[in-house]
Amino acid sequence: MLPIQINNLLARDGWTLRDNEARCGSRCITFFSANRATAALAKSLRAIAEQDAGRFRHISVVITTNVEQMNRLRAGKLPRVFFTSIVELESPVTTVPRVTSFTAKIIANTPVGPTPPVHYRLVFDAPELGDILPPQFFMMDVLPVRTPLGSRAVRRADWHDGVDWSPQPLLKRPFGLCRVYRPNFPVDYLKRLALPPALAAVLHPPAATRFDLLYKVLPEGIGTPLLTKLRRGDKVHMVGPLGRTFDVRALRADGIEEVHIIGGGVGMAPLILLVEELRFHSFPVKVFLGMATLESLRYRDELAATFGEKSRDAYIYIDDLLAAGVAPADIFLACDREQPRQARRIPRENLFHGLVPEQYRRFLATRKSAGKTAAFTCGPNRMMEVMTEICREANILLKVLLEKRMGCGFGVCFSCVQKVRRVDGATDYVRVCKDGPIFDAKDIVWKNDDSKQPSVNCGCAARS
Ligand SMILES: Cc1cc2nc3c(=O)[nH]c(=O)nc-3n(C[C@H](O)[C@H](O)[C@H](O)COP(=O)(O)OP(=O)(O)OC[C@H]3O[C@@H](n4cnc5c(N)ncnc54)[C@H](O)[C@@H]3O)c2cc1C
Ligand code: FES
Repeated sequence: MLPIQINNLLARDGWTLRDNEARCGSRCITFFSANRATAALAKSLRAIAEQDAGRFRHISVVITTNVEQMNRLRAGKLPRVFFTSIVELESPVTTVPRVTSFTAKIIANTPVGPTPPVHYRLVFDAPELGDILPPQFFMMDVLPVRTPLGSRAVRRADWHDGVDWSPQPLLKRPFGLCRVYRPNFPVDYLKRLALPPALAAVLHPPAATRFDLLYKVLPEGIGTPLLTKLRRGDKVHMVGPLGRTFDVRALRADGIEEVHIIGGGVGMAPLILLVEELRFHSFPVKVFLGMATLESLRYRDELAATFGEKSRDAYIYIDDLLAAGVAPADIFLACDREQPRQARRIPRENLFHGLVPEQYRRFLATRKSAGKTAAFTCGPNRMMEVMTEICREANILLKVLLEKRMGCGFGVCFSCVQKVRRVDGATDYVRVCKDGPIFDAKDIVWKNDDSKQPSVNCGCAARS
């Protein structure tokens, strides 16, 4: 007997439930109780997955009695399945992922764009990753974990270059995750997934075990140039997820009908994870991406190698957005150094020569329907400041993802403060790591005098 709550949730979105199956047109959801013997459960789930062949027209949901049991199963090896628990059905909660410290193994560190590359895609295997909710971030070492010969020990392979005695970064650096991957789920599963929104609000996919991040090498930086030296098989120490989460379900409660994402350069990276979350909850999403050139997005995707093909050309962000189920007509690309030519299947009228806020301004001026909209942005400060103005004029709720130089990542060193305006009009400072990184754009005092920020030991001191 299925819980009555499931019936109520599905009815809200026009699905009908009979016995343990819900149907809407050609789509079907089958519910299983977690109390069945695991082997029998796995067999039934596998049969559904094989018959459905990755189309996600038929999906399976396992209902557990409590959250602990659910998390155990989510971290296990059940075939393609979603989870919920009776406890959550009774009162939906946002569980903030637990902060952990772990080592992640590098699978690829791929240069992106023309040579010399400025951006890299780092792919990690991290079975301990578990959950992360956008726009949380991790503090990550930029040097690999070494064999225990002391902090300056080098691996055999490094002897060719000699021992590097130059100053090494001591502190971890903050990075947002770009994408996460889940066992038994195709990388583009969101493309075909169309969950009833009310049910999606209480469903969980299996725990992620692999993730990507995109980083930009700062010419004057100490840590990011070192990241380019990381190789497949290296292990890197990380702490996280850190920072406040943003519960996209709140958008639906606020009557938001459409979400706009506006990313500038590497600022787009953490927004991809947010797009995935929005697509999981069946939100219509339009994405505006600002880059220097189209070419700066291209890379060889070695991990997509097939029998007949060693690797394939891929475009960061664009391919990720398509895999997340964003329609090509909902992707807009602005390049400030060239008129972008045909990019994947993005319509020509969505390609713009100029800056992304300008493209967004023009889009807003010509759009026909204007349902209640929320927007999220991340990129250079000047861009986010302009976006704040545009959204204020268009009466769009804008959230910004801030990036500040960080010392600790969890609220004790005050190196990441941002000036904000409080409700009473007075100004104040908040910590981006603890109070953010997501903020209401209207609260940010953009013309901040950064020279007045408290200084912190950034870790540039030599390791010894
Ligand atoms: C929450 C969060 C998420 C982030 N996600 C990403 C990401 O996905 N991809 C990515 O490439 N970068 C991201 N960053 C920025 C990244 O952390 C910095 O680029 C990196 O720490 C620089 O390290 P470095 O050792 O090379 O530079 P450092 O040697 O530490 O500094 C070099 C110079 O850069 C300046 N600088 C360093 N960090 C910042 C910053 N955050 N903002 C402004 N100026 C800075 C310093 O003041 C200094 O002048 C994120 C930052 C935050 C706070
Ligand atoms: S990084 Fe230390 S308080 Fe934010």
